[in-house]
Amino acid sequence: MALRKIVYEGDDILRKNVKPVKDFDERLSMLIDDMFDTLKEYNGVGLAAPQVGILKSVIVINTGDEGNPDNIELVNPEIIETEGEVDDWEGCLSIPGFSGKVVRPRRVKVRAFNRHGEEIIVEGESIKARALCHEIDHLHGILYTDKASEITENE
Ligand code: CO
Repeated sequence: MALRKIVYEGDDILRKNVKPVKDFDERLSMLIDDMFDTLKEYNGVGLAAPQVGILKSVIVINTGDEGNPDNIELVNPEIIETEGEVDDWEGCLSIPGFSGKVVRPRRVKVRAFNRHGEEIIVEGESIKARALCHEIDHLHGILYTDKASEITENE
């Protein structure tokens, strides 16, 4: 188990665009494993590589309680379909202690690759759709605070 250090809001790296992954190698595999460990340690739902200081197109998601208990890894993800809108609260491991209300699609379909370079299609609704959109935004230097209609400090 290897934890990566979380990068917090205010760090420039969170505002940069990532580079697509070209080498599906052992290094990528290690990054993904470490990201899952880090996600679990901080009880997060999703984590994007820039949040651990790596400008690569990689996200991991684990929505646990929503009937999707498995770890999902997405390399070079791209949203290919969206449907509906939901205005709801979300948070971010890079902005601890706060939540924001953001409009996200109700359902999304994402095309990506797994660590072996195999193409995968992932579909998500509700919290999973929200997590997918939130994490993919991170790959483009976008934080939820850019989109939130309301931001509040958690109790
Ligand atoms: Co985030």
